[in-house]
Amino acid sequence: MQKGALVYEGKAKQLFLTPDPEVLYVQYKNSATAFNGEKKEEIEGKAQLNNQITALLFERLKEQGIPSHFIEQLSPTEQLVRKVDIIPLEVVVRNIAAGSLAKRLGFDEGQPLKQPLVEFYYKDDALGDPLLTDAHIALLELVSESEKQSLEHLARQINTALQEIFVSIGVTLVDFKVEFGRTADGEILLADEISPDTCRLWDKETNQKLDKDVFRRNLGNLTDGYSIILSRLGGNSQ
Ligand code: C5P
Repeated sequence: MQKGALVYEGKAKQLFLTPDPEVLYVQYKNSATAFNGEKKEEIEGKAQLNNQITALLFERLKEQGIPSHFIEQLSPTEQLVRKVDIIPLEVVVRNIAAGSLAKRLGFDEGQPLKQPLVEFYYKDDALGDPLLTDAHIALLELVSESEKQSLEHLARQINTALQEIFVSIGVTLVDFKVEFGRTADGEILLADEISPDTCRLWDKETNQKLDKDVFRRNLGNLTDGYSIILSRLGGNSQ
């Protein structure tokens, strides 16, 4: 499909128009960012790893009855998606304490949670993506109460499906972030990406971090872990 004008550029992806107004062309980038863009690096190979991992995961989720904006992978670094208006909420699901939850509540990293925790953050770089309470969500009027409940329900379904996928490849799904969007006819769809940039993934045997924490904490070569995830999912990282 022909690549038209650039319509959006984020930290990790560029979106281009296509001849079909309902379809966008996504180009993944090699940029890695953390701490709201304060830490930034170009990492050769990251674009193709995240594009392919996202494509495989969105395909697997679809098989499990969870549709997304994903249409098809076009090349190692490009995919076609349905155009949606992104709802500016980051929905985070946690199975094990880590990251900002460990910091905020004083849990040890690695402490399993009694049940999965769903949190909403306001997707706003200028505000530093703050954690939202239900009252904040109501005040912001980004979604109705029933839409908020469906997002939470969907996020829990995605967690169950992803846990099953990752457990089968010897990986622990610690936590992840998803985003949703509205299609032109108002349908809410899973959107954006699901990759080691947006999940915490630990090797089940060794607890080796196979995700962006390697970059955030300077723990070594980022793409080593991403390549492990892609090849265990059945993809080809070359
Ligand atoms: O930093 P925190 O512990 O809140 O992150 C929870 C999960 O959400 C992690 O898997 C992280 O990679 C992901 N996340 C993200 N984009 C953000 C914030 C968090 O993908 N802007």
